[in-house]
Amino acid sequence: EKGGWSSFMAKEVAEEPEAVANTMRGRVQDGQIVIPELDGMDELFAGVSRIVIVAAGTAAYAGLVGKYAIEQWTRIPVEVELAHEFRYRDPIVGPDTLVISISQSGETMDTLMAVKEAARLGAKTLSICNTQGATIPRESDAIVYTHAGPEVAVASTKAFVAQITALYLFALHVARIRGTLSPETQAEQIAELSALPAKIQWVLDNEQERIEQFAHWMADTRSVLFLGRHVGYPIALEGALKLKELSYIHAEGFAAGELKHGPIALIEPGQPVFVIVPSPSDSPVLHSKVVSNIQEIRARGARVIAIAETGDAAVLPHADEVLRVPLAAPLFAPILAVVPLHIFAMGLANAKGLDVDQPRNLAKSVTVE
Ligand code: M6R
Repeated sequence: EKGGWSSFMAKEVAEEPEAVANTMRGRVQDGQIVIPELDGMDELFAGVSRIVIVAAGTAAYAGLVGKYAIEQWTRIPVEVELAHEFRYRDPIVGPDTLVISISQSGETMDTLMAVKEAARLGAKTLSICNTQGATIPRESDAIVYTHAGPEVAVASTKAFVAQITALYLFALHVARIRGTLSPETQAEQIAELSALPAKIQWVLDNEQERIEQFAHWMADTRSVLFLGRHVGYPIALEGALKLKELSYIHAEGFAAGELKHGPIALIEPGQPVFVIVPSPSDSPVLHSKVVSNIQEIRARGARVIAIAETGDAAVLPHADEVLRVPLAAPLFAPILAVVPLHIFAMGLANAKGLDVDQPRNLAKSVTVE
């Protein structure tokens, strides 16, 4: 039930802190990651030489974020592929490959068929799923449930942050098995993860109203672009997808480094561009790259809305609007940066009087190919 909320989506965005906390609950004990569902699989994770993540839509963007962390912490090469593409291209996977599927519903036909194909080819399959007993987890060798709670609105919000959380828990678990992280680094990452729910809550408490107001002013916008680098790139894709599906506005996400290879031609005076800005203290090189991207598009008239860390004063002169998120280590920043984008897409759809829970032409779970 919606309770006092204006929509299921509003309720589910408000539950993002809880979704992360609940996905972690019981899985961090005495500073160690404990995932009982994966008991007895250490040998598999120690031996696997490659990971392929298959998913669709927002779940695939969670996979893209997860790739950075899994590779950094475990040094296992990771590819992320849209499930519907994977299935029909005679993919090269075998017994040394772990295929991880990500699905909120656990019923997405494209993802299910990719999992079946992976199993047929001899790969081991792991399902990250939010729905107990759904088809995809039942078809998989192992399951790590996200505990975001039921998600009713078509737009995936709290499930997305829970999916990234589950991927991070999995990555840290495998890093311990493979000995690829020092105990200190492992402890630092666990502390970062544990701090996320309160930081997401900070964004909701301090920025939500302002972002909704801002979305109201933007209700007549025809097109919005999103830019990010590194883990900010999948967040740019997610910001664009949410805006399309909820507000029917043309939106595109780009890797900021790709601008000069084409997309910068789109910039004309007044074009709104959201830019996910990495932390100046934790990622100084990336930060300065993104600030120069901002300068390039602003010089051509773009209206820049920066999503930046609270302490980032350097970005101020370069942005028309700054949406604030608390400081987090680079790999954890996307879980915060996505929150303003969820709020913005919802706010804009509300401003246009649209049904945010049930956008046109879409279904919550896509059970056909
Ligand atoms: O249930 P799933 O996670 O497998 O769904 C995958 C996509 O259909 C889903 O994330 C879709 O892109 C959302 N409507 C995006 O908000």
